[in-house]
Parts: sequence; C-alpha cells; structure tokens
Amino acid sequence: MRALLLGSLGASLIAGAALSAPRSYAVPDPSAQLKTPKDGEGGSQGPGFAAAQANCQTCHSVDYIATQPPGRGKAFWDAEVTKMIKVYHAPIDEADGRAIAAYLADTY
Ligand code: HEC
Repeated sequence: MRALLLGSLGASLIAGAALSAPRSYAVPDPSAQLKTPKDGEGGSQGPGFAAAQANCQTCHSVDYIATQPPGRGKAFWDAEVTKMIKVYHAPIDEADGRAIAAYLADTY
C-alpha cells in the first residue's frame, strides 16, 4: 500500500515536472508598422511620429494602436499615452507624450 502511494506520488511529480518544463515558441517578427504621418515625416507630425516609433513599440506591437477604432481624437490618445506612462510606467517625457498623442489623433 505504502509503496503504491509513493509510486503514484512519484509518477505525479514526474508528470508535474514535464508539464512545467520551459517551452520555446517561435514568435514571428512584428510586421505592423506605425503609419507615416499625413503630412510626411518632415512635417508638423514629425516629432510625434519619431517619438512614437521610439517609445510605443517597446512593450507591445503596433497592433495595439492600429486596432483601436478610427477617429477617436486627441482626448482619447492623450488618455492612452497618459495611461501608458502612469499605469504601465512607460518612460516617456511629457513633451514627447503630447507629440505622440497629436500624431496618433491625426493619423489614426
Ligand atoms: C512600459 C510598457 C508600455 C509602453 C512603453 C507602451 N505601452 Fe501601451 N500597453 C502596455 C500594456 C501593459 C498594455 C495593456 C495590455 C493588455 O491589457 O493586454 C498596453 C495597451 C495599449 C493599448 C490598448 C488599449 C489599452 O488601453 O489597453 C494601446 C492603444 C496602447 N497600449 C498604446 C500605446 C502607445 C500609443 C504607446 C506609446 C506612447 C504605448 N502604448 C507604450 C504597456 C506599454
């Protein structure tokens, strides 16, 4: 009886170890790109576009931005950028944050 108990305990430990073994997944490279600003990179949206490229794809892909419903406006994007900074601790300074929100509101 005791041997049987120990045996099944051992078997479940082995099964548990197999289940918790690290797995590796081949994740495809992110393919989504931030949209080019409407008036071109050198235009007034330039700084926001560059700042978004530098700051908005480090934690997640551009899909998070691209899949938002279109035409949500500046207030929405301001709030999104503020949330990324305040809630998720994105290291983005205030001026960059404003430029990013302006670019996103105009482009998405
Ligand atoms: C420090 C990491 C980090 C950075 C940098 C970051 N985000 Fe996020 N973002 C998150 C997390 C975490 C979520 C929530 C993921 C979830 O709920 O599955 C998120 C979600 C989102 C969403 C989906 C809607 C929502 O509110 O959950 C949008 C849109 C978004 N981020 C936009 C941006 C933009 C724009 C930037 C650049 C200003 C940015 N993110 C930079 C961490 C980050």
